[in-house]
Amino acid sequence: MPYVLEYACMAAEELSIGVDMGGTTIKFAVVQGTDVIFRGNPMQTGDYESPDCIVEEIGNRLRGIMELYPAVKAVGMGLPGFVDHKAGVVDSLTNVPGWYDIHIRDILSDATGLPAAVDNDANCMAYAEWKLGAGRGMNDLVCLTLGTGIGSGVIAGGHFVRGHLSAAGELGQMTIDYKGRIGYYGNQGAIEDYIGHREIAAEAQAAYAAAGQARPLEQCGPMDLENAAKAGCPVALALWDDIGRKLAACLMNCHYILNPEAFIIGGGVAKAGDLLFGPTRRYLKAQLYPPHYEKIKILPAMFSNDAGIIGAARLALSVANNEDS
Ligand code: BGC
Repeated sequence: MPYVLEYACMAAEELSIGVDMGGTTIKFAVVQGTDVIFRGNPMQTGDYESPDCIVEEIGNRLRGIMELYPAVKAVGMGLPGFVDHKAGVVDSLTNVPGWYDIHIRDILSDATGLPAAVDNDANCMAYAEWKLGAGRGMNDLVCLTLGTGIGSGVIAGGHFVRGHLSAAGELGQMTIDYKGRIGYYGNQGAIEDYIGHREIAAEAQAAYAAAGQARPLEQCGPMDLENAAKAGCPVALALWDDIGRKLAACLMNCHYILNPEAFIIGGGVAKAGDLLFGPTRRYLKAQLYPPHYEKIKILPAMFSNDAGIIGAARLALSVANNEDS
């Protein structure tokens, strides 16, 4: 892989900070190439009163990291919602109230004195997987992260697809049921409202109750379902089959719009591996135009849950080095 070798030689000594904001936690890391060499204590967003308090604490944490790693060259942050990466502004975050029109890039660089880059969290993940991970060398790919929310980043014809309002690739908002549940932005039947972490747990709780096996919600999350399915539990196996079927519907729609070479799938829910990938592939095989199915790749993200943080840090370096990102 000449690109990776070249990158490793070029950037071996360059350090940058990646910040990955999710619905409930904000993670910090120092990244060197594809290695996470330091992890800060995650912040729990629920512990802070307002976005102002959160950004103030982010600044404190970043300065603390810079004391430990004075060589860091840049800071990058991924956030779960609509982020105008060019302007460096958060438009709105899905499932995180109060984050409107926040000039987060300026806040990060004012707090640290470093060049900063900000983007949607799934775009950061896609950037890492495209440049350094499972999608390297590809010109057309769609990367999805499956967690509390569902996000994606799209690369088409060798370019990142941003869209008119910098909001392209919001696959979590794709409807798979036009009469379905009403989602965060008012749209009905968005896939995120069926196979997001919380929705999987709620569905599982109902399925267990219907099978006469009532159990608390905290024991119905994707990881519990993974363990149960591996132990042969028919309720859990049926749930994974249904999750894969819904994901396949989303990928099929996406295939007919973008026709990517690969779908790269990461995030907490994808940790279930074949329990998710098996039914997803099976439903795609059953429903997709066969010559297309034969050529499409469905791959796990190489960097797993670190993809977002590695991508944010790498994006920041590309800004600091005036590279084309
Ligand atoms: C948001 C996306 C985000 C995804 C993953 C969704 O709820 O709408 O922008 O990428 O969650 O965090």
